[in-house]
Order: sequence, then C-alpha cells, then structure tokens
Amino acid sequence: MNHVFTKELLPCLLCYDAPCSQHCKEGMDPAKIIRSIRLENRIGGMEKIRDCCFSCDAPCEKHCVLHRKLPIKHIMENFYDYKTMRKFTYDKVDLSTEICGIKIENPFLLSSSVVSSSYDMCKRALQAGWAGVCFKTICMMDIHEASPRFSAVKSIDGAFVAFRNIEQLSDHSLTENFAIFHRLKEEFPTKFLLVSIMGRDEEEWRYLAKEAEKSGADALELNFSCPNMTEEFTGSDVGQIPELVERYTRVVKESVSIPVISKLTPNVMTMSPAAEAAKRGGADGIAAINTIKSITDLNVIHSLDGEVADSNILVGGLSGPSVKPIALRFISELSQNENLKGIHISAMGGIYTWIDAASFIALGAGSLQVTTAVMEYGYRIIDDLVEGLQLYLAFHKLSSVKELQGALLNRVTPVTEIERDYVIYPKFIREKCVGCGRCYISCQDGGHQAIKFENRVPTLDPKKCVGCHLCIMVCPNESVVSSEIKVKKQPIQ
Ligand SMILES: Cc1cc2nc3c(=O)[nH]c(=O)nc-3n(C[C@H](O)[C@H](O)[C@H](O)COP(=O)(O)O)c2cc1C
Repeated sequence: MNHVFTKELLPCLLCYDAPCSQHCKEGMDPAKIIRSIRLENRIGGMEKIRDCCFSCDAPCEKHCVLHRKLPIKHIMENFYDYKTMRKFTYDKVDLSTEICGIKIENPFLLSSSVVSSSYDMCKRALQAGWAGVCFKTICMMDIHEASPRFSAVKSIDGAFVAFRNIEQLSDHSLTENFAIFHRLKEEFPTKFLLVSIMGRDEEEWRYLAKEAEKSGADALELNFSCPNMTEEFTGSDVGQIPELVERYTRVVKESVSIPVISKLTPNVMTMSPAAEAAKRGGADGIAAINTIKSITDLNVIHSLDGEVADSNILVGGLSGPSVKPIALRFISELSQNENLKGIHISAMGGIYTWIDAASFIALGAGSLQVTTAVMEYGYRIIDDLVEGLQLYLAFHKLSSVKELQGALLNRVTPVTEIERDYVIYPKFIREKCVGCGRCYISCQDGGHQAIKFENRVPTLDPKKCVGCHLCIMVCPNESVVSSEIKVKKQPIQ
C-alpha cells in the first residue's frame, strides 16, 4: 500500500472522543482505525476493520464533524478489501527492554517537557501505556515563562513540520515536584521515572540530584541542553563545553547511586566531545537531542497581509518532524563512537510513528523519548507506536527490541565511500502516471533536462539522465520509481 492510497484519510481531524466511533452501531472504532493508518500503523489499523461496514448506512459519516465530507464507509471498505488480500497474522513481540539495567515494558518514554510536567499528566500517560516519563526539568531558578511561547511551520494540511518553543523549565516549586515523584513511584512502581535536573553550580547539581533520588527517581537526566535559558552557563551553554559536562556529570554521579544520563545539545558540529566528556564524568547514558536553535517565523511579514503582527522575532528550540534527520545523524554518530561503547543512548527528536522509532533503534538507540508528537496528537499515540513496532519486529522475525538495536549502523556510509561509478535510472509507471508534468518541470529547472514531455507523457533520455532521482522525489503520484538497475557510467568523451 502506498501513500497515495492513504491520502483520502488526510481530511480526518483526528477528533477527541470522535463522534464517528460513538455512533458506530457495530461498536467498531473508525476514528482509531483511521488514526492508526495515519500514524503508519496500517496493518494494526486494518486488522480492526470488520465486514459490517459493507451493509451499513454509515451513521459515522452522518455524525462526523466534517458533515459527510469524509467518506468513512468507503475508506473502511477499501481497507477491509486490502486486509483480506494481505492476510497478515502475527504473534505479539514483547517490547520490554532496559535502561541502564532497569527493566521497562516498552522503549517509549515521555521526554522532559510540558507533556510530563504534572502528576495528573504523567499518571494519564502511564495509564495510556507509556513505559515511563522523563519529568519536566526541575531547578532552583525562578522560572517566568513567556506568552505565547510556541510557533510552528505547518504542512498544507495543518500538521506540524517543525515546532519552535521558548519554554524554560518547571515553574512548580521543588517541594511540589518532589511530592509528585514520591506519588508517581508509589502508584506506578513498575514504570520508569526519570527526573531531569539543571543546576547553576556544583552545589545545586548535587542538591537536586540527591533530593530527586530520595523522592523515588529511578534515574536522573542532566539537562545540559535547553537552548532557552536566560542565565549564563546553564542549559545548552554547558552542553557546548565538554569540561563543564564532565564536571557536572561527575558531581552528580558522586552524589547518587542511581543511573545518570546526560542530555546533550545538538547546537554543535559534533556531539562526541561532550558525550565522551559525560562518559569520563561517569554517565551511564546519553540522551539526545534537545531542541535546535531556530527562528521559525518572521511574524512581522504577516502584517503586509493585513494580519496582526507580533513584532518580536524570537530564537527558540526547534523540535518535531523536521529535526528527525538531524537527530538520527547525531544518534548514529554516538552509536558508532568506539569510546562510547556500552553507554545507553536514549534518543528523541521528531518521533511520531513506529517507523521513526524503529529507525532510531536501528541506529543504536536503546530507549526513545517523545514530546512534540504528544503535544500535537496526545498520549494516545502510544498505542500505534507499540503495536506498529511489535508488528514490524514480528514481520522481520526479530524477537526483541535489542535484536534491532544498531542493526543498520553498518549501512551508514561515509561520504568517501559512496559509490560514484554507476547510474540508476528512474522508471515511469505508465498505468499510474496522470501526466501532470511535475517530473518534467523539476528535471528542466533542477536536474539535467533528461525528461521529454509530449502529449502529457514523460519519457527519459538516458544519455542526459544522471540518475539523481529528483523526478522520483517530486512525483505527487508515486508513478516514477527507481529502476534499481545499476548501469556503469560511460566515460566522458
Ligand atoms: C515545549 C517544550 C518544552 C521542553 N522542555 C524541556 C525541558 O524542560 N527539559 C528538557 O530536557 N527538554 C525539554 N524539551 C525538549 C524535549 O524534551 C525534546 O528533547 C525535544 O523536543 C525533541 O523531541 P521531540 O521532537 O519529540 O519534541 C522541551 C521541548 C518542548 C517542545
């Protein structure tokens, strides 16, 4: 199944307590099914569709908040047909794994942020199936947050592409937060409680670490990476100075007996110096990435459009889908570093679906953390993260997360080793091509003028084609694919 097939689901608003599901006479949950498919857990979603849709008068569509604009019945019927063709069955794979020797039921934790900032929020997330939480960073500074504090780059259907925040740390009192840790650990003894701390000097690091341990933390995450701090030599300032990372990690390590994970900043060229410094300081794990310094929006520009202008242009931390490629690069760098062998890597940065999760694990991550996807879609995404990953492991006959861990690291190819003697031509799938000519435009203006476009039919001139695959990338209909055949390059005459 390709993305074109799932495009008809895009108008679905992924409602809270969706009326379509409430009104299904057969007790099916079309909202959940659509959400699963949108979040790439297609098999898991389709498994839940029953054939009752074929004989139904679709009250789901009648009660949909889009007023019959979403063809839910047709979507269900289509996916039911697809499901019967696939006949995929699986045994659920146990996703339990560990962080620094402590068992967790699956690799998914909330990352330290607004999503994990109160007792009630953490409780709901743990009940929903998250294996643990990394609580919002606690500190001894006075935190005064700004309003508004978020902005986003969005895709045409309104989904976050990139998300920017200028938020700092927990603005609850330490007494309140320590009480929350006690309560969470008492009520959820098998869940993983990671407490994120940030000090301004050794004394503060030591104090916070000891008190967090006393309050029930299973492990500590040291925030060397928040890019929004106003005090000098806190947050990402520290993460950019390996000597400070080592010093503060050591201070904490010497103060507690629970595992210590240093959370590093991506606002550097390479993360290895800080990660190695953390290891020298005694860190049991590295967490990455925190957000990337950015400007998402020059709001003043909108004023030309007649919209209300916010005249401040703010630098903040970027997260969400667009940072995933950068995060994956850092995780592979850490996993490949021989000096860091054996250290736990807790990865984050743009994890929305089980495919993202599997990618981070395959590049060496031992656990995964999520914020932006939860801010956008809620704690409920855990269902599809877990089920999708279980299905993937089952499909590839892998019996645990550990078996996948690092499995694709040897495929990360240095630039010096990229094969450059062959061309792999694109191939047009005639039955699917609708003749839009997008491949032609891009090849003309961004490629090598190798596509001819006559009578709305694209054809390839292999003498000009260099096999860059831009046409495949831009085709909106997935009707240009790789031929997969390597042809030796002709010497230039
Ligand atoms: C609103 C917001 C608040 C955050 N607060 C913290 C924090 O207090 N401590 C911390 O270590 N990271 C914080 N982060 C960073 C996240 O934990 C995470 O590292 C980053 O957002 C990348 O993951 P994501 O793409 O899943 O959001 C925050 C992120 C966001 C979006």
